[in-house]
Amino acid sequence: MKFATALLNLALVGLASAGNFTNPLRQSGPDPFIVYDHDTSSYLFMQTSGNGLRVTKTPTLDGIRDSANEKLVFQNQDMKDNPSVWAGEIHKIDGNWYIYYSHKDAVWVVSGGSDPVGEYKDPVRLYDRGWSLDNTVLLVGGKNYLVYSCHSSDVSDNTIGGSSICISPLVTPTQIDQDQVTVVSRPEQTWEQSGGNTSEGPQAFSWAGQTYITYSASFCSTPDYSLGLLHLTGDDPMDAALWTKKTDAPVFKSGNGEYGPGHNGMFISPDGTELWNVYHATWHPEGQCGDDRSTFAMRVDTTNGLNFGSPVTPGVYQAPSGEGGATGQKSIIYSNSTTPLTEPTTIAAYASPEALSAPTTIGVVEAAQATVTALVDSRSCAESQSKRKRSRLIPDAY
Ligand SMILES: *[C@@H]1O[C@H](CO)[C@@H](O)[C@H](O)[C@H]1NC(C)=O
Ligand SMILES: *[C@@H]1O[C@H](CO)[C@@H](O)[C@H](O)[C@H]1NC(C)=O
Ligand SMILES: *[C@@H]1O[C@H](CO)[C@@H](O)[C@H](O)[C@H]1NC(C)=O
Repeated sequence: MKFATALLNLALVGLASAGNFTNPLRQSGPDPFIVYDHDTSSYLFMQTSGNGLRVTKTPTLDGIRDSANEKLVFQNQDMKDNPSVWAGEIHKIDGNWYIYYSHKDAVWVVSGGSDPVGEYKDPVRLYDRGWSLDNTVLLVGGKNYLVYSCHSSDVSDNTIGGSSICISPLVTPTQIDQDQVTVVSRPEQTWEQSGGNTSEGPQAFSWAGQTYITYSASFCSTPDYSLGLLHLTGDDPMDAALWTKKTDAPVFKSGNGEYGPGHNGMFISPDGTELWNVYHATWHPEGQCGDDRSTFAMRVDTTNGLNFGSPVTPGVYQAPSGEGGATGQKSIIYSNSTTPLTEPTTIAAYASPEALSAPTTIGVVEAAQATVTALVDSRSCAESQSKRKRSRLIPDAY
């Protein structure tokens, strides 16, 4: 594999203070997840980081950029030996925290207590009747379910090559009923098949009394990696017929120089009035399955259905409503302000080599040294997968 290293004399300088935050939240941040914990008035953030489970706890969205807020909450020898720990999500069930994650082509959970950044233990493999990946918890009608990516051929005779979205009841927070598995979505549309039939990264959420799942469609090493949407039209999420897919197109796809905005998390603003999408995207136009995927957060426009919009550019945005007690601020701020700088920060540069020669909208730029390793050659899916399975490093500066 050929790598090219570009030294970029460019750095974003943080303009954000209380009430604002700067995108990207992480320079390298695949598979992001966020939940706001009202008990500690903090956001809890996770991303794929390879060899362990790390939780960032911070009262402001902007605090996610500060690695000092991040804590390694679980790691065992198996994770060190097989650094393919992906897609961690932290969920509170009956007063205790659990982290669901993917490891060695299976979905797992570790159990914690009342402190989200306290001790976790007892890893349990949740599904062992076939391949599984990516995991989220859906709460409907007072019952919890695990939603994950599966191979439909392991589950039913209505099969399709590639990965699908499955659901099983969570009998306890650490056990699913493996006899009950329903395939709720198969990668049947053209936009779900670029680079290989793929439905993964499900993310369950409810908004305005309705239950939804976003999921990632198409293969991550293509610019067509995008988000699809499922809507539950009845009470029983185990009834595949009750899930309606928006079949004509993804709800969120490449745009504004950001590519492959897939595997995401959905969260609600601290005051409950706004729906937010936290996702990863890359500046590589051919897509990317590895570490060159940055974390962005943006508000979903809910005035007329769910409008996910287009990926946002790097810059300063208004923080979710209710953060730090503020309320009622709803507009999105663009970042091309020329506000004078007082305090250059050490956050990492975010820019493509192309961006250096073109006018950008990334706000105020100040000379600083940052190293961006750009993976320039295109790779086969297999190589990308292998890159994806590589150990992830926490970015050294942001
Ligand atoms: C947030 O950013 C906007 C635009 O840069 C700026 O006008 C505003 O003063 C900032 N707010 C705070 C609280 O810093
Ligand atoms: C992808 O799905 C189509 C059906 O839409 C199927 O014909 C094709 O064989 C699948 N591709 C693979 C690689 O499984
Ligand atoms: C900032 O960008 C927006 C969107 O591209 C544009 O409409 C606006 O005029 C710009 N503002 C400034 C001050 O450059």
